[in-house]
Amino acid sequence: MSAQQREAEVEPGTAASRIDTSVAHPRGLHPRVDTSVAHPRGLHPRVDTSVAHPARRYDYFLGGKDNFAADRESGDRIIAAFPTVRLWATENRAFLRRAVTHLTGEAGIRQFLDIGTGIPTSPNTHEIAQGIAPDARVVYVDNDPIVLTHARALLSSTADGATAYVDADLREPELILAAPELRQTIDLSRPVALMLVAVLHFLADSDDPSGVVDRLVGALAPGSYLVVSHVSFDFLPPKTVNQLSRVAQAEALCQRSKAELGSFFEGLDLVEPGIVPLAEWRAEHEPRPRPTAADVSCYATVARVP
Ligand SMILES: C[S@@+](CC[C@H](N)C(=O)[O-])C[C@H]1O[C@@H](n2cnc3c(N)ncnc32)[C@H](O)[C@@H]1O
Repeated sequence: MSAQQREAEVEPGTAASRIDTSVAHPRGLHPRVDTSVAHPRGLHPRVDTSVAHPARRYDYFLGGKDNFAADRESGDRIIAAFPTVRLWATENRAFLRRAVTHLTGEAGIRQFLDIGTGIPTSPNTHEIAQGIAPDARVVYVDNDPIVLTHARALLSSTADGATAYVDADLREPELILAAPELRQTIDLSRPVALMLVAVLHFLADSDDPSGVVDRLVGALAPGSYLVVSHVSFDFLPPKTVNQLSRVAQAEALCQRSKAELGSFFEGLDLVEPGIVPLAEWRAEHEPRPRPTAADVSCYATVARVP
């Protein structure tokens, strides 16, 4: 069978058929876009379904359909050690919504750089921001090819605003900042909200997460903001911490304490209420009762670049 015949067997609507060659790749043509071969089950060749990926596991926690057995098995190991992880995922999305709403509505931000975007989950950052300010501009960045295959859903901008997608790794901030699509979409001489929501805990200490944040924040204009949510075991009893630590190590998740998170915000002005349990960040209008800090086990913070 020829490559063309095999390619023709890819079902419309499958992941491979959704690969969008119009989205941005800092190095030009995306190295993972291989149009010469067919992909079993219509999947992109670099979408490895045999190992769990954070984006697909998160999709599983959120009740989505873009996950595979390895993601669900990994997710189930986390659920066994931390049964409220689905609550964490929905609360994390609610924090993202509240933070973008605050920054667009009250702080006047019109530009967003959302790194570690995840598989599109409505409302996405641009939908929230453009719902308030139709001229808002959003650049999405993720390093997972499954997110790339869904990028079109992230490019549904209003006519007055703009969105772009850059396939890149948070550990290469210079590459992200130099991406032509980023430069064409947002103006770094004006304030930007840098969204690092539920992504920094995928960077090991050896990846120098503080240095990565510094290099990104260093490129932002005064009046910009940094938005972070980050898993932490601070709120958990020792027995749970023991169990979870083993799972976290196996799943390459790096929890951090409040003191460790503080290093991400050095030199920035913390927006009230500071570094707090995620479910408590400006949650006055959320339904009651609120989840406990232990149920969610995650910090959230918004900080301003002076
Ligand atoms: C838990 S999801 C969070 C999605 C979204 N930010 C949210 O909070 O709802 C984490 C996302 O970060 C992405 N990610 C993990 N490590 C990354 C890296 N080094 N560079 C870019 N993206 C990364 C994953 O692919 C995944 O899509």
